[in-house]
Amino acid sequence: MKVLVTGSTQGIGKAIAAAFVRQGDEVIVHCSKDKAKAERVRAEIGAALAVTADLSDMREVGGLYAKTGAADCLVLNASVQYKQRWEEITEEAVDRQLAVNIKSTIFLMQAYYPAMKERGFGRIVTLGSVNQRRCHDELSVYAATKCAVMRLVKNLAKECAPFGVTVNNVSPGAIETPRNADVLCDKARRRAVEDKIPLGRLGTPEECAAAVLFLCGKEGAYITGADVSVDGGMGL
Ligand SMILES: NC(=O)c1ccc[n+]([C@@H]2O[C@H](COP(=O)([O-])OP(=O)(O)OC[C@H]3O[C@@H](n4cnc5c(N)ncnc54)[C@H](OP(=O)(O)O)[C@@H]3O)[C@@H](O)[C@H]2O)c1
Repeated sequence: MKVLVTGSTQGIGKAIAAAFVRQGDEVIVHCSKDKAKAERVRAEIGAALAVTADLSDMREVGGLYAKTGAADCLVLNASVQYKQRWEEITEEAVDRQLAVNIKSTIFLMQAYYPAMKERGFGRIVTLGSVNQRRCHDELSVYAATKCAVMRLVKNLAKECAPFGVTVNNVSPGAIETPRNADVLCDKARRRAVEDKIPLGRLGTPEECAAAVLFLCGKEGAYITGADVSVDGGMGL
């Protein structure tokens, strides 16, 4: 399979890209601007191609398909998150989260779906969040973007199913990635997060990757429109 994983230069996206490479797929690594970093990660994990496109800029979103060509599997993992109380959130922070988390998701699906439909096969997976289910007083806008993506997934799953294309969402809980590094390297703050997780520990990027690969593989072929939590029970 040819697989594009957005935001795959670190964290969960990198683990997803590496897992696809290990099972023999042709993988495209992507990040916003740093071509050298994308190229480094490509070489490190053995992926086929490295590309950049800033997903906050719809012109760059529109140009990504021309850089990669069609893909059998589209994993929409890139996102931005601004931790701010909603009373204080700025228009810029709202716009960036809407652009990267929702708008780019819509337009990338629009760009990659026609070739999948024509071939009668495709796999689209979005990355959601435990914040779809759990309140967090500094993540209300981020959570709203993730809920919006989930609704999009449900609607498109129904429309795309007759053409052999499945559309699913994987929603991680608290996962050890560079995004959380400042919280997780502080012992007290780390413990406070762990206390919210029924399984008692943070998750790994590889555990999220396993769910994505399952949904895109033979075993997940009959699953569409699903929201798979990989959160140690944090959303319960
Ligand atoms: N980590 C968690 O605990 C957690 C929990 C719930 C959900 N999630 C979700 O899981 C996904 C991955 O999270 P993560 O923690 O692995 O994220 P991360 O460490 O912050 O990495 C984000 C990736 O997305 C890319 N990206 C960010 N802004 C971009 C833009 N404007 N254009 C293109 N690429 C962009 C980054 O590339 P650049 O360096 O080029 O910006 C990077 O490769 C996200 O959708 C996140 O919301 C994560």
